Amino acid sequence: MRILLLVSAFNGLSQRVWTSLCASGHDVGIALADMGEDAIVETVEDVSPDLIVCPFLKHRVPEKVWTGWPTIIVHPGPVGDRGPSSLDHAITEGEALWGVTALQAVEEMDAGPIWATRTFPLPRGVAKSAVYNGPVADAALECVAEVVAKAADPTFRPLPQEDAPRPVPHARTRPLLKRDERMFDWSWDAGSIAVRVAAADSAPGVRTELRGMVVHAYDAHVGELLERPARPGTVVGRYEEAVAVATGDGRALWLGRLKHPRAEGGDGVKQSALRVLGDLDVPELDAPESLREVRYRRIGPVGVLTVRAHNGAMGTAHCRRVLRALDHALEQDTSVLVFKGTDEFFSNGIDLNRVEAAEDPAQEAWDNINAINDVCSALVSDTGQLTIAAYTASAGAGGAMLGLAADVALAREGVVLNPFYDIGLFGSELHTYTLPRRVGVTLAGQLLDDKQPVDAATALRLGLVDGVGPRDPAAFDEWLMDQAALYASPEHWRQTYDAKLRFLQGSRPPAYYAARELAEMAQDIFDDRSGFAAARESFVRKTPRKAAHAA
Ligand code: COA
Repeated sequence: MRILLLVSAFNGLSQRVWTSLCASGHDVGIALADMGEDAIVETVEDVSPDLIVCPFLKHRVPEKVWTGWPTIIVHPGPVGDRGPSSLDHAITEGEALWGVTALQAVEEMDAGPIWATRTFPLPRGVAKSAVYNGPVADAALECVAEVVAKAADPTFRPLPQEDAPRPVPHARTRPLLKRDERMFDWSWDAGSIAVRVAAADSAPGVRTELRGMVVHAYDAHVGELLERPARPGTVVGRYEEAVAVATGDGRALWLGRLKHPRAEGGDGVKQSALRVLGDLDVPELDAPESLREVRYRRIGPVGVLTVRAHNGAMGTAHCRRVLRALDHALEQDTSVLVFKGTDEFFSNGIDLNRVEAAEDPAQEAWDNINAINDVCSALVSDTGQLTIAAYTASAGAGGAMLGLAADVALAREGVVLNPFYDIGLFGSELHTYTLPRRVGVTLAGQLLDDKQPVDAATALRLGLVDGVGPRDPAAFDEWLMDQAALYASPEHWRQTYDAKLRFLQGSRPPAYYAARELAEMAQDIFDDRSGFAAARESFVRKTPRKAAHAA
């Protein structure tokens, strides 16, 4: 079937839909809705698709399009829910059950007849972006598969909304959630504040005041009862680059990320809380596990290092902490080390926000690329253990390459890898060593040049990864540990280890590749050879990318 995806951005969900439809053998095109109504109509007329699917659309569909072609909108709400802030309202109000509905586009927004719908339990206090990329995306994929099957059935008629059962009976039309309705007061209990932050995370963030500075708050985690009570709203501690704030119930509310808006005299870049608040004379406190950047545990012959990089962004200091933990893990007498991300993030390479906000962005980018390379080198060069990278979540650019540095790469179903650089950088992370090692020189070149997302199943077929485990996070963890135990078994271990040694001995040392990559990167970073500064600025500030560097 010829399918056109009409999207406001080729975001994570759109990438998943695109890769899964392509994998099912459909001819799938993408049109970005910000090109304007006339251009959309022209594109649709040119492509003449059998079906238009809009997995992520903030723009209106031109009337000429929805009257001429079956156009299906994926709405992140159950039947009966309408409006632009569905998930924000659902999280704020603590809905237990939520859904996704595929509706036919009609004149009135979200009012068309239903093609498919799914529901899922809505976890409490989880960031909107995690809900969106997790249960919403999973449900959306199922809906899209159903829509495509129904589109091929000439007898199918979509169900008018008034005739459809409503699994969430109070679902209704709700307006945009306004800034004032998102606010909280530090005298509230930590759990309620965390919910408010979650409902606006990653955008637009909740406005609050810390140490007299107006900030937007993100990445909230409920902490323990504070030993020393403090006035609600006081910053009472730190851990790594996060800060703890006293709340009304005596608990700490941890915040990992803040933004000091430009309108308030700040730089408008979302960064670690500590960077935004500046030097703080507060004690180091124990942070909740959910916030920690690195966790290590061992189970018999298997060590597991879990790395949490918010948004997948691995800044210089973060990489150094990861390297310390990795060195420690590699020194242990385990035979297999699993290097994994969290359900939400694996890695998206260097921290572009941190670079953008730095006084000397080029120096910061250089330090960052060297720091992430050190992590990759440690994985590539270690000869004491077998290393397994687990893509627990999607990964892009240097973050996708980072996983390839391990001896074995495994992925959770549904993750999407973007194994290329599209930000005005040649790229490093030893990818010129690890990518051809996995897929050969020709395919490596194609992946870097084509710049197309790759789903887990395709990654397996191409040899980018060695195995794909279940989508459900708990089931994946179990599967991962079984795989690790298998690789730790003498026969498997020896075979994989020997292959790794043969490759290491048969090629130039990884440092050779790193040096060559860094020579390219020096020109990109310090001479801005390929438009890194402009591409980074538009990525961080979410402004259109300037045409000169759009290639
Ligand atoms: N540094 C800082 N922030 C990053 C980041 C990075 N390297 N990669 C992603 N993010 C942030 C985004 O800004 C966004 O933040 P926000 O939600 O707080 O605004 C969030 O992570 C999600 O990213 P988004 O781009 O919306 O996700 P996606 O699923 O649509 O796309 C990628 C995934 C990987 C294609 C895309 O994030 C990307 O291109 N990242 C940059 C990769 C890169 O060039 N890294 C540097 C070279 S190593």
